[in-house]
Amino acid sequence: MKRNKVAIIGAGHVGASLAQLLLHDGISDVVLYDVAQGVPQGKALDLGEACPLWGSSASIKGTNAIEDTAGSDVIVITAGLARKPGMSRDDLLQANATIIKEVSTKTAAQSPDSIIIMVTNPMDVMAQLAWKFTKFPPQRVLGMGGVLDSARLRSFIAWELNVSPKDVEALVLGGHGDQMVPVKSLISVKGAGIDSLLPEATIRSIFERTRNGGAEIVSLLKTGSAYYAPGAAIYEMVKAVLFDEKRLLPCAVHLEGQYGAKGVYAGVPVILGKGGVEKIIEVPLTAEEKAAFDKSAGAVGKLVETLGL
Ligand code: 2OP
Repeated sequence: MKRNKVAIIGAGHVGASLAQLLLHDGISDVVLYDVAQGVPQGKALDLGEACPLWGSSASIKGTNAIEDTAGSDVIVITAGLARKPGMSRDDLLQANATIIKEVSTKTAAQSPDSIIIMVTNPMDVMAQLAWKFTKFPPQRVLGMGGVLDSARLRSFIAWELNVSPKDVEALVLGGHGDQMVPVKSLISVKGAGIDSLLPEATIRSIFERTRNGGAEIVSLLKTGSAYYAPGAAIYEMVKAVLFDEKRLLPCAVHLEGQYGAKGVYAGVPVILGKGGVEKIIEVPLTAEEKAAFDKSAGAVGKLVETLGL
């Protein structure tokens, strides 16, 4: 039986955190690629030396040669610049667009049947860019944002209520940017609606903290951006693909009229399995949520226009 193979493009903290989870659970071999000499090799060596301790039979190779990624089932693209304090994700647009154009075409050529998961910010735009340049079907190019934003929202609710985050369900839709849309009507604590558990003002401030979740960490770290929760969020998506789990997860996907958006990438609930985005799920939104979604998807569309795609 062919072993699962995941290529991680970009050996920064996010890429390495993901590699750690994949190796720890032994669910796929990993190729960690970066242009920086020595960095992917060093991290791969360190992670590989942990495998006996984890009882893992998975393997990892660190490399500067894109050919080593050939035949991957999933390509995760984390390459690019991360935010510095005071920067928005959108400030990274031009620099990362150039990087993404090159790495997405090169990796797609090595793994023509793969599923691409975009992580580089501004993520929705970079996902759209990768889709355009790889010419992959839209079902096979998606972005990680909603799973992370929803995990942050679930954590904040769990901390406020002093319950396990396992028992909190929540969905954050729209672009993975300052205008993301936490959907209040879809929050549930073991079936109980959030309105019955927390006052409106607290819910609003939790939503605000969610929208600023990435920036809050950037401002604390000062020299980088979040990576543990982003790594865990990508891991959930990779697992859904490798094991054909048909998970219902919020992912950035190419919208073709769903949620009233056309020709743009934005976060919506999808069924994620072996084929990538197997179905886009349309959930009812309130008028306020729909307006916020339109604004958020519109902001992605404007950034794409800036690039002249
Ligand atoms: C975050 O939200 C880096 O965009 C990523 O932390």
